[in-house]
Amino acid sequence: MRSSFVIKGHICYCPEPARLVIAPDSYLLCENGVCRGVFAELPAACRALPFEDMGDRFILPGFVDLHTHAPQSAFRGTGMDRELTEWLTANAFPEESRYADLAYAEKAYRIFTDELVRSATTRAVIFATVHTPATLLLMDLLEQAGLGAYVGKVNMDRNAPPSLCEESAARSAADTAAWLDQCRQRAHKTVRPILTPRFIPSCSDELLTALGELQKQYGVPVQSHLSENLSEIEWVKELCPQAAFYGQAYDRFGLFGTNGPAVMAHCVHSGDAELDLIRRRGVFIAHCPQSNMNLASGIAPVRRCLDRGLRMGLGTDVAGGASLSMLRAVSDAIQCSKLLWRLADTTLAPLKLSEALYLATKGGGAFFGKVGSFEDGYAFDAVVLDDTALPHPQLLAPAQRLERLVYLADDRHICAKWVDGRRLF
Ligand code: GUN
Ligand code: FE
Repeated sequence: MRSSFVIKGHICYCPEPARLVIAPDSYLLCENGVCRGVFAELPAACRALPFEDMGDRFILPGFVDLHTHAPQSAFRGTGMDRELTEWLTANAFPEESRYADLAYAEKAYRIFTDELVRSATTRAVIFATVHTPATLLLMDLLEQAGLGAYVGKVNMDRNAPPSLCEESAARSAADTAAWLDQCRQRAHKTVRPILTPRFIPSCSDELLTALGELQKQYGVPVQSHLSENLSEIEWVKELCPQAAFYGQAYDRFGLFGTNGPAVMAHCVHSGDAELDLIRRRGVFIAHCPQSNMNLASGIAPVRRCLDRGLRMGLGTDVAGGASLSMLRAVSDAIQCSKLLWRLADTTLAPLKLSEALYLATKGGGAFFGKVGSFEDGYAFDAVVLDDTALPHPQLLAPAQRLERLVYLADDRHICAKWVDGRRLF
């Protein structure tokens, strides 16, 4: 039986992109791990439940990081003078090679998990590495911590250094099937596997065919990268001349929403045809603004995606992104959208705070089901933010204090967190 309780505070959530609800001094009801709504007065039927008053603090839905790389956390904030393909070769691949060593992986993944626990993130969609033992270890650590996650053992059978390149497509697929079997045996409650072909340049047609079959067989989602960088896109054209655009290179194998849910990171340079296919297939986009800036990939046209009603959330894309903070991802998304509007296309209106908060909670949360809102029936994932350590001389309205928290808060201002009604701290 999961927990039932009530907490009180300034409750904020975005049921729609253009709607930020702020309910000051209100009650939030959790029943068996599920949110049962926000109330101005404590309902009589709830008087006997455990109750905690968060006072003058803010209660938000837990943030959903729709795209990040756990093994890359170790080199965050370095190698930032490179673009994608050089950065992969010089920074990402050498670090990921270390995860063949389980002792190293344990050290690194404990640091990553501890940091994720303290952050505003309650759920994340995560790349691990090609190594099965280290990937299972990461899944165990996240489960023990109580975090929600999809975690992927990465597949790559070409254009990778010998230390990371899997022996053959057949071997990569067989290892993936064995990993999925081990995940079934573990039967974690909050952590699940996700297929993870790294990107088209890393995966042969034979491997993608096998992964398409595995997706059908095991009923798992898939994550990958899409249209991130201009030279990457040119490379995909050379590797896959049959595809009219990058997204088709996944779609040919059913890995673009046909065989099961799919989330694609970036879509910085996706054209109309690609965005149309994304919509038709219900593919999620993980917008990763900080990574796009660091790797000089470009600025994703988020407004265009929102106008088309695409399914979308925000990601940190560590270590393309140097920060694990989803609050930072929210402000980065807003700031990037302003530059795109001002410098490139005045028809793409900048994101509002409510829209960016929506993407970081309910937008990305939809990949997990009913997650990321305080509407009745949503998973009780919540974080409590305290702005007392961010003093100000004047009186501010709750909406102003919330905006300030988004721009100024870090882990030190997060004082409580729940996933599925289970308190992490
Ligand atoms: N494309 C393929 N691999 C990666 C990666 O590790 N990070 C980013 N940002 N893009 C990728
Ligand atoms: Fe990435």
